[in-house]
Amino acid sequence: MKTLFKNPSQIITVNTNGKNLKRGSELSDINPISDHSILVENGIIKDLIPNSSSSKTAADKTFDLKDLIVLPGLVECHTHAAYAGSRANEFLMRLNGATYEDIAKSGGGIISTVKAVRNSSFEELVRILKPRIDYFITQGVTTLEIKSGYGLSFYDEIKLLQVIDHFKTHSPIEIIPTFLGAHTYPPEYQNDHKQYLDLIIKELLPYIIKNKLADSVDAFCEKSAFSSDEVDKIFTKAKKLGYKLRLHTEQFNNIGGLDVALRHKALSVDHLEVINENDIPKLSKSETVSVLLPGVSFFLDYNYAPARKLIEHNAIVALATDYNPGSSHIPNLHFIMQLAALKMKMSAEEIISAVTINSATALGLNEKLGSIEIGKQADFAVFDTKDYQEIIYNIGLNLNKYTIKKGQIIFQRAETK
Ligand code: NIG
Ligand code: FE
Repeated sequence: MKTLFKNPSQIITVNTNGKNLKRGSELSDINPISDHSILVENGIIKDLIPNSSSSKTAADKTFDLKDLIVLPGLVECHTHAAYAGSRANEFLMRLNGATYEDIAKSGGGIISTVKAVRNSSFEELVRILKPRIDYFITQGVTTLEIKSGYGLSFYDEIKLLQVIDHFKTHSPIEIIPTFLGAHTYPPEYQNDHKQYLDLIIKELLPYIIKNKLADSVDAFCEKSAFSSDEVDKIFTKAKKLGYKLRLHTEQFNNIGGLDVALRHKALSVDHLEVINENDIPKLSKSETVSVLLPGVSFFLDYNYAPARKLIEHNAIVALATDYNPGSSHIPNLHFIMQLAALKMKMSAEEIISAVTINSATALGLNEKLGSIEIGKQADFAVFDTKDYQEIIYNIGLNLNKYTIKKGQIIFQRAETK
């Protein structure tokens, strides 16, 4: 089955010349091409054909993209979208001066969402998660990572991973689960960290990989959560079992998480709002992606990660929403792209690289996703504009018109004109 996506005004290829990632100044190079059409065969990009010869191209179907621009499907590489309940009360507390950490210490924060998740059935959680996934699809997101981390018991972590797993077959996009059992210590293990670590290391890690519920592990390295030694123990076992590793680190404190993640060759280090200046060069040569989450800084009115310095030091920078009920209640990746421009001074080109090829790299999926190159999966976000700068400039407007997954149109915006 061959489909020709014909005549877009531009194709933003984010070509990597086979490198499949962009570091430092390479993020600026998104390789737009004009006067070309995209030939897709069985869900894979087969060719980029000059429009002058596209009429001679044999295809079973053609699809006209006149006056639209095509980007690689957006890859959202860091969310906590599988949650129940609301933390609107904490939002109010913060407006009145309480900090995120104060709220966590007084029993709110992550733990209040854990209670809501434990009180929700599989079916309820499925019902809650579905519209959230659909909303990402409307934005041109074709791959979506979702973490567990609000169950924090054997039963509830598995339940949450099963909810996420359900959408692998009940959603048209790729859903990537990540096991985040080490999100925080649940109340029943508050005074017995060793026993909770044992639950993660000896029971959950082996069960989850054996049952194919996730092949990535994340942890929260923070004074109020897991120490770098504890993360080291979890990562050591996880790696032996064949997991990919990711780490929430340097969000509020600097307690050695970055070094542990780099030592274990984690796929990504996420947050970095308080990364030490002297540590930035460590990311220069490393293959570990820096996933920046400006929605958290905006939502908590807190430091932004030093995007410019990371890029100057040749880091592989990606962007994500961190969509969660407590620190970034923002399911809008376009808004995150806009924050990255306004607050972190990233250019539109850098931002596009950060939400396509580099976020695919953070998931370890950059060989098949994240750019429009022959042989890659035909995942596209098609925007109703002639200039990609407009995606950043139109704050609050969704210019995505079609979301295309493996060559199939899975979302089409209703005509408003
Ligand atoms: O990435 N930092 C830890 N985890 C989330 C917040 C989760 C929550 O508050 O529910 C984050 O910011
Ligand atoms: Fe997070």
